[in-house]
Amino acid sequence: MSELDTLGSAAIARIEAAEDLSALEALRVEFLGKQGSVSALLKTLGQMSPEERQSEGPKIHALREAVTGALAARKEALESAALEAQLASETLDLSLPAPEAPRGSVHPVSQVMDELAEIFADMGFAVATGPEIEDDWYNFTALNMPESHPARAMHDTFYFPDTAPKGGKTLLRTHTSPVQVRTMMADGGPLRIIAPGRVYRSDSDATHTPMFHQVEGLVIDRDIHLGHLKWTLETFLKAFFERDDIVLRLRPSYFPFTEPSVEVDVGFAIEAGRRVLGGSGDAPGHGWMELLGSGMVNRRVIEMSGLEPDEWQGFAFGVGVDRLAMLKYGMDDLRAFFDGDVRWLRHYGFSAFDQPTLSGGVGARP
Ligand code: PHE
Repeated sequence: MSELDTLGSAAIARIEAAEDLSALEALRVEFLGKQGSVSALLKTLGQMSPEERQSEGPKIHALREAVTGALAARKEALESAALEAQLASETLDLSLPAPEAPRGSVHPVSQVMDELAEIFADMGFAVATGPEIEDDWYNFTALNMPESHPARAMHDTFYFPDTAPKGGKTLLRTHTSPVQVRTMMADGGPLRIIAPGRVYRSDSDATHTPMFHQVEGLVIDRDIHLGHLKWTLETFLKAFFERDDIVLRLRPSYFPFTEPSVEVDVGFAIEAGRRVLGGSGDAPGHGWMELLGSGMVNRRVIEMSGLEPDEWQGFAFGVGVDRLAMLKYGMDDLRAFFDGDVRWLRHYGFSAFDQPTLSGGVGARP
């Protein structure tokens, strides 16, 4: 029955060429629907003689089977091609785990700066700031380090190629001390400020990074003397390390911007192989660790900042914030502070809900 064969192969060829599911559905209706051509053939069986039906019946049924099978095969092929196309167009990174809870944490440097602000606010200090891109004049000259001063060479300064407004060079500030000058010029006396912030020196090893943090302290008033400095530092360090047995040793030192200058050491003991702050460094098994630089503000600095040095005196100190964090929270490599490694941050970071307060403990950990 070649007519049926031709019909069958034409139908199958069209089914195999169907370009999408809706074209395929149109073909299904055309062949197998109520008015479909294959359905019409099946209806002819009823008018056939028993002999005819016996010979034609199987062929017509076979044709319907073949068309049905071709429709199903083409449908599957079109559907899996659609899925492939969708998968290729959608990218989903399944390698990252979904967080169970918010993962952000407060960096130890921010935490320590908040602790410092809290402690010093209680002693009547405001927080002052200054620019990190600084003028040669504020960073050096006004701090009694003129052009040729040898102390300039010790700062490993990063200079910019352009000229600063005050004539010298523009640089990345090497310490927070220029904020002393800026604050005295802006506000005059009396003053009680701390100035925390980033500073820069061309230096790098386990305890030095090209960018690090300092906090400057400055008190300007009448009749200020070294005793005020010592009391302030003692009160601050006891509150910061949350220990009453912090013992300080003041050693004569030299900074161009303070006169006299004192280097402050803090006593420590060795417990289980670690340095633990507290007690006199002169006791057996104890030692002294250099902590910060300070002194009475040099009258030349007071003068260059526009104040009358016979009326106003003061003290200043500068201490490394990163170093304070390392001593309090036990990190031993400064470089890790600035790697942005989430494992380090998860371990050493603080909860944002853990705001330091004097009443709750400035370094409370959950
Ligand atoms: N600016 C000094 C430094 O960076 C520290 C210091 C500050 C010393 C204030 C005395 C007074 O080393």
